[in-house]
Amino acid sequence: MTTAPAVEAIDLAKHFGATRAVDGVSFVVPEGSVLGLLGPNGAGKTTLVRMLTTLSVPTSGTGRVAGFDILRQPTEVRRSMGLTGQAATVDEILTGRENLKLIGSLYGLPRKYVKDATERLFARFDLVDAADRMAKTYSGGMRRRLDLAVSLLAAPPILFLDEPTTGLDPQSRSGLWAVLRELVSEGTTLVLTTQYLEEADHLADEIVVVDKGRVIAAGTPTQLKDQAGQASVVVTLTHASDVDRAAELMSSCSAEVHVERGSRRLTAQAGGLGDMTRIAAVFETSGIELDDLGLARPSLDDVFLHLTGHRAEAGGAADLTNEGVAS
Ligand SMILES: Nc1ncnc2c1ncn2[C@@H]1O[C@H](COP(=O)(O)OP(=O)(O)OP(=O)(O)O)[C@@H](O)[C@H]1O
Ligand SMILES: [Mg+2]
Repeated sequence: MTTAPAVEAIDLAKHFGATRAVDGVSFVVPEGSVLGLLGPNGAGKTTLVRMLTTLSVPTSGTGRVAGFDILRQPTEVRRSMGLTGQAATVDEILTGRENLKLIGSLYGLPRKYVKDATERLFARFDLVDAADRMAKTYSGGMRRRLDLAVSLLAAPPILFLDEPTTGLDPQSRSGLWAVLRELVSEGTTLVLTTQYLEEADHLADEIVVVDKGRVIAAGTPTQLKDQAGQASVVVTLTHASDVDRAAELMSSCSAEVHVERGSRRLTAQAGGLGDMTRIAAVFETSGIELDDLGLARPSLDDVFLHLTGHRAEAGGAADLTNEGVAS
């Protein structure tokens, strides 16, 4: 059985005057999978999401959501998806519960359904105690969760999330990841943008790396890491006096050994686990004491540096762009 992809970007472009915010981007998101759009500030992530969710009209190209064309069938597209924008869009002077009620009536959802769904969503997002407080008394993380609850009210099969965890503390972030994984296990398709490599690594089946409006790499997290180079075996010695002898031993196992004297750390290029066990065996018989020995794969951050010449998260998360809601 073949099903249409949940989301397709087809040579999408958006130019603002001389700024090519998005400059010919294509990708396909299979149903029930997670696509991570990864890129630094200004890469074009939000602009891509806005076009695919019909909030912004492409300069050229098109896209499909649940098989519907974003230009010709915007109403059907909107009915098939939910969006949590980069800036929270909850109504500050309403309580959490009232926010969901308002959205429910805007969508024309049955009242009983909204009531039950609200209880379910608040329980899932740990907002039960705060349900009857005005949203302006919520912390940033609570607002983000309320925002997500609002986008999930109509149980959309496809969910777009624009930097869902930016500004959250590590605990709230991993809490949200857990909820998102749960949604995916129930069959929801996710398209999420992020500047956090770790987030893309945790959640995404497929990652599209964008920079300056263009796709600079795409693949699974593992494929991208493989592109950034080989794995390496990292050894930390207990005694600085062993550095030279250890370097010699490691050189007999690997073509390239890098020595950091200060931290007593030696790194050898490795093909995989086999090389690690070989190096471990050599040290075992040498009598050299080790603090640590392990296999390190390139991180997605290394991937980014390799592809763009700069680190992904260096710019910080400052973004004053105000998102509009569908109008
Ligand atoms: N309405 C607009 N008018 C003019 N330029 C815009 C507009 N919206 C976005 N841009 C520009 O398009 C480029 C891409 O912006 P976009 O918001 O899509 O980036 P982003 O990847 O979401 O960045 P961030 O991580 O900071 O949210 C930027 O150079 C931005 O200044
Ligand atoms: Mg953005």
